[in-house]
Amino acid sequence: MRRIPTSARGARFIGWGTALGHDTVTNHDLEQKMDTSDEWIRERTGIERRHIGGSNVELSTESGRRALEMAGVDPLSIDALVLATTTPDRGVPGTSASVQHSLGLKCGAFDVNAACSGFVYSLVTAHGLIAMGAERVLLIGTDVLSRITDWNDRNTAILFADGSGAAVLEATSDSGHLLGWDLDADGSLENLLYQDHGDFIKMDGKEVFRRAVRIMVDSATKSIAHAGVTSDDIALVVPHQANIRIISAACDRLNMPLEKAATVIHETGNTSSASIPLALFDAANKGRIKEGDLVLLVGFGAGMTAASAVIRWTAR
Ligand code: COA
Repeated sequence: MRRIPTSARGARFIGWGTALGHDTVTNHDLEQKMDTSDEWIRERTGIERRHIGGSNVELSTESGRRALEMAGVDPLSIDALVLATTTPDRGVPGTSASVQHSLGLKCGAFDVNAACSGFVYSLVTAHGLIAMGAERVLLIGTDVLSRITDWNDRNTAILFADGSGAAVLEATSDSGHLLGWDLDADGSLENLLYQDHGDFIKMDGKEVFRRAVRIMVDSATKSIAHAGVTSDDIALVVPHQANIRIISAACDRLNMPLEKAATVIHETGNTSSASIPLALFDAANKGRIKEGDLVLLVGFGAGMTAASAVIRWTAR
């Protein structure tokens, strides 16, 4: 079983920030464009509205700047920028390079594409950089799914939206906040959810739903075991915000009441790499997480990727 080496240098969050797409689109707005209804979308997905618009660089810069301001650190003290995204502004270079420039950072920068699991993949990667000697890493999850969504397709247009969430991770003298993690993928399922160059997202919604619950629960169970805790010890679960029914089914199978879940899906829709940080930092801003609480992050996405982590909330 995977264990975090006790000798590994740890990290914790010292600041965070979020941003949403610049325009609001309600379910009623979608009713005007396609054969759907506010009632259907709310009942089947939990989504009431979503926010779209703005480039990846714009949204990443907004959330990243807020995270740096909250941390109160000099941008020049950041040793690496990790940007989780499936919707880069350009094929080349990575959007992280443009965001590095717009935030005034002088450090290495790279994109991570693990679909909707990207933020947790990047969180684990950032911990690896800190274990290797980095002092501070800026971690951003941003997606502009509106750009690759067919706004005439009611199968996908009701779900996807734009947003960004960022965090500054700083090295600690102790083992830090990460207690356990799991990263997974099953490329044999890539045709359930994909987007070819120049085309829109294609999705077998029913099959994704069925698989999503199972892989979230599997991944979460592994992280909880690696952390050496039980699901009863988890104070807050922060699931990928794809569908409230997926969140509810996963909580059920993890023996956690839905009240333990952080949810912003009614407001944000599915923002892929941004979804977990949007929900996590919304909960933190609302005072839902106390010092010492155990928080489970768990995502799934195209690929089909899954990623989870158990952290002990010790944010500054
Ligand atoms: N508005 C109104 N009716 C709709 C609709 C829409 N947007 N989409 C489908 N329907 C209709 C269907 O035609 C069907 O009608 P019928 O019973 O008369 O045949 C009925 O609603 C049920 O359709 P179904 O496809 O079975 O709905 P569902 O309960 O599976 O919900 C999703 C569809 C896409 C919301 C759901 O499958 C889902 O969320 N899947 C996971 C997708 C996901 O998370 N993707 C991202 C992963 S990172």
